[in-house]
Amino acid sequence: MCSVQMKKKFLILTLVAFLFAGIHAEVSQADVHSAKMEKDPAILLVTFGTSVESAQVSFRNIEKRVKAAYPKTEVRWAYTSKIIRKKLEKLGTKIDSPEMALARLMDEGYTKVAVQSLHMIPGAEFHEINVNARLFGQMAGGIDKVLVSLPLLVSNETMEKALKEVMVQAVPKERKANDAVVLMGHGTHHPSDAIYSALMYKAQKMDANLYVGTVEGSPSFDDVKEMLVKKKTKKVYLIPFMTVAGDHAMNDMAGDEPDSWKSQLAKEGLEVVTVKKGLAEFDSIVDMWIAQLKTTMAHLN
Ligand code: CO
Repeated sequence: MCSVQMKKKFLILTLVAFLFAGIHAEVSQADVHSAKMEKDPAILLVTFGTSVESAQVSFRNIEKRVKAAYPKTEVRWAYTSKIIRKKLEKLGTKIDSPEMALARLMDEGYTKVAVQSLHMIPGAEFHEINVNARLFGQMAGGIDKVLVSLPLLVSNETMEKALKEVMVQAVPKERKANDAVVLMGHGTHHPSDAIYSALMYKAQKMDANLYVGTVEGSPSFDDVKEMLVKKKTKKVYLIPFMTVAGDHAMNDMAGDEPDSWKSQLAKEGLEVVTVKKGLAEFDSIVDMWIAQLKTTMAHLN
């Protein structure tokens, strides 16, 4: 080997040695850094929101049960509805959007976040959070892992369980077999609206007098009304099939205005009983969301 070759070889070896030293230094620094800074995962509960004070009982129940399941975990809230957030802000209550809540958690040094969608179906809002949460997970120097948990109705099993729980928990005990039970879902322009038609099919299979209608989708209220009239139904129980008994339950369903579901069915000669309770007031339904959250928390670690 000539001296020029030897010099070259020495130079390369020296460079490699320096590089390894550099990498090693960086790794051990990162170890120290993460050992000091790594926080436990945080939970972000995301719902549409409500400005109806009495509906807050649903959210309080969710928080109580989530905190019972994760007593040492930081639990935050975010509302997806900008209209509700603006309304509440005017009344002096500031609630974050999911993106603002994630930014805050990132700023406070949380590196793992479980986002629980407290929506009923994987509709437009769920998909929006899913996309934006993923982007937070991709930012450098911020949250390492953010996972979004599924909403309530995402499978045959969850649809059937939700219907069964409503029949057991929400329907008044005095209901007779030929009294109808109508569940009021929200409905949406999003393709996931089809879940409500699937629910109607399952409801009818479960109990011939159990129906599902929606405010903004399909099946519509008119679809349900037609079925009730055709069947010569005498008495009907109206129950919200939503996370909270908010504006839709109080006004569109149980309101005294002539266009409410209650008034329109009374006009057809039916005796109408309204149940003004949100689904999240029932522990067994909240536990369905918590079951989704548990799966997500397990994937975060
Ligand atoms: Co609405």
